[in-house]
Amino acid sequence: MKFQLSAALMGLAATVVSAQDKQLGPFSLHIKGTNPNSEIDGYGWSCHAGAGISGLCYTAIDQPYRAEIQNSFKYFFNYTGFNQVGDDEVGTLVWNQPYTDPDGNPASASQPMDLVYQPTSNVAALLFGFSNAFLIGFDSEDGLFGYNYVDDSTFAPGKPPSDYSGKAYYRWAVCWQYFTGYFYQSVAWVQLGAPHNPTCEPVEITKINA
Ligand SMILES: *[C@@H]1O[C@H](CO)[C@@H](O)[C@H](O)[C@H]1NC(C)=O
Repeated sequence: MKFQLSAALMGLAATVVSAQDKQLGPFSLHIKGTNPNSEIDGYGWSCHAGAGISGLCYTAIDQPYRAEIQNSFKYFFNYTGFNQVGDDEVGTLVWNQPYTDPDGNPASASQPMDLVYQPTSNVAALLFGFSNAFLIGFDSEDGLFGYNYVDDSTFAPGKPPSDYSGKAYYRWAVCWQYFTGYFYQSVAWVQLGAPHNPTCEPVEITKINA
């Protein structure tokens, strides 16, 4: 009887654990331009973009900011362990948004990164503070990729997709972007083709562990 009870409790615990995210971090995000003469070489930081909303901004700095020093440069990777592309886990990029709780004490909210599109552009801003998340991961060289589990370039009329294994995509850019009333040089995702925003430069983003 005792055994049965503990087995049931273990089952319950296992369910709870599997539903909870695993978390890696903190780390900082190194951003480097991939055009031959690009001068972009710096770090990502969370810039204020409204109440409880932050952009993923770019700053060119000589000295790498140490993620353990400045919260704005500290990011995390949440993943369930159930979704991979190749050997790489797929999950969400997370930032802890600081705020002051009703008792006046410092608190923070764990926010996933999402893409916010301009309907008339193919360039999306990366923002923290919305409830949805853009799925991302890190490859074996710590490179940040975007993920989707279907590829509509393979679709045929009337045939639902049969391959849901997903792919990693690298379409990061740094652009001057306008969102939520602010104009920042910040990280973007280019949906397809040449960016509609002429200030965009392609970049690669790498996780640097703190
Ligand atoms: C990320 O994972 C941590 C640890 O499980 C959790 O506390 C946090 O709420 C998660 N954040 C998001 C945005 O899911």
